[in-house]
Amino acid sequence: MIRRFSLADLKRVVEIDKKSFKVPHDEWVFRYYYFLSPKNFFVYEVEGLVVGFILFEREGHLLYLAVDPLYRKRGIGRRLVDEAKKHLKEGAYPWAEVRRSNLAAQSFYQSLGFIREKVIPNYYGNEDAYVMVASQKTSGSC
Ligand SMILES: CC(C)(COP(=O)(O)OP(=O)(O)OC[C@H]1O[C@@H](n2cnc3c(N)ncnc32)[C@H](O)[C@@H]1OP(=O)(O)O)[C@@H](O)C(=O)NCCC(=O)NCCS
Repeated sequence: MIRRFSLADLKRVVEIDKKSFKVPHDEWVFRYYYFLSPKNFFVYEVEGLVVGFILFEREGHLLYLAVDPLYRKRGIGRRLVDEAKKHLKEGAYPWAEVRRSNLAAQSFYQSLGFIREKVIPNYYGNEDAYVMVASQKTSGSC
């Protein structure tokens, strides 16, 4: 089940984030974006347990997406991106930065029809980012 994030979910989101990213994000990052745009933060729940989340901007930028390692490869990440797409501004297309070394996320976005648009050198300090963009940007089909 997908629903909007509430502050009661913060602990689980931080836990999942820690298990998911090379450099985990501080709790304040999630609080900040939640207070900024509470409607752009969704969680995926399985039997009452939050197992994934997505945070995005309505202009299309997918800011943070992660699924608990125990629940990956079940279509949860795809459903979270699909949910975000429903809430983008008209005409906006989703895109995300991905670490050059994060091959899993690159394959994930490619499976969803994203293409690698450009490289941002040293975006993560000592590592480049690929900007992955939904291919409808170029094909015109959503
Ligand atoms: C990337 C991530 C969110 C994917 O979540 P997920 O729930 O496992 O993804 P899904 O099950 O919805 O997979 C959707 C598609 O991506 C593909 N995919 C997912 N993980 C993959 C992997 N590790 N390697 C290759 N393909 C992968 C799936 O095979 C599936 O393709 P299909 O529909 O053609 O079979 C998850 O691996 C994760 O949390 N990673 C750590 C955090 C991260 O990197 N976030 C993104 C940063 S930008």
